[in-house]
Amino acid sequence: LYRPEGYHQRYLEQDGLPNCYLPRGSLDDDWRNRGIGVPERVSPLELSPTEFRRLGHELVDQISDFLGSLRDRPVTTGETPAEIRALLGRTGLPETGAAPAALLPDTARLLFDHSLFNGHPRFMGYITSSAAPLGMLADLLAAAVNPNVGGWELSPMASEIEAQTVRWVAELVGYPTNCGGLLVSGGNTANFVCFLTGRRAMLGETARTTGLGVTAPLRVYASAGTHTWIQKAADLFGLGTDAIRWIPVAPTCCGSACGRTWPGATGRSW
Ligand SMILES: Cc1ncc(COP(=O)(O)O)c(C=O)c1O
Repeated sequence: LYRPEGYHQRYLEQDGLPNCYLPRGSLDDDWRNRGIGVPERVSPLELSPTEFRRLGHELVDQISDFLGSLRDRPVTTGETPAEIRALLGRTGLPETGAAPAALLPDTARLLFDHSLFNGHPRFMGYITSSAAPLGMLADLLAAAVNPNVGGWELSPMASEIEAQTVRWVAELVGYPTNCGGLLVSGGNTANFVCFLTGRRAMLGETARTTGLGVTAPLRVYASAGTHTWIQKAADLFGLGTDAIRWIPVAPTCCGSACGRTWPGATGRSW
């Protein structure tokens, strides 16, 4: 039997059958030959394929209408927190669940009618990108399989899609395509990975096991325009925010640590 490490014995013993862990092909055949069927187990969150199709089609219709109406909506309604909270109602935790047929469209309407839209053609307030319709469908697809990309065996195709995407991004920016790389959840996490890589490059492998206690105080140089991810990284990875040396940026400067402001930062530790 192929039993993932840590798999709870309770599940193996349930019904006296090895009924709900990862079957490999031959094992699957073996079960079939022995007439052991896949047990039916229904959980409260379960939707039948028919119901999923109906709810999904309705939601996609609702989203399509929303996308079509986006440019005619206000960028934001400008409602107060009290007004928004009143729409949700100030009830306690419900005793019972709600039928998805009502819950989904109602929640969609609340979001469509009471949000600030990054994707509105007149939204110029911040860098957050528009929601991409193709991305919406891709998220749905990814959620349908919900692969655990923590290990290749747990997600063969998703892992390879990730690896191929990394190679393509490398190719796009002229980086060696035999590089490593990861898709992560967003800008902070991406920068954290780079920060940790830099820390390891400067301190070597042992920093991982011995920590930072025995090292000389570390410094991080960043332009004064750097996003707040850097304070979070300095805190999370043990340097402390006092380790950051802010390099002033000229008002007309591009906002990064460019040549005009850099010379003072070299040769000494501020
Ligand atoms: C340079 C930089 N790092 C990190 C972030 C934060 O990204 P996220 O919210 O995806 O973690 C931003 C977002 O503005 C950013 O510009």
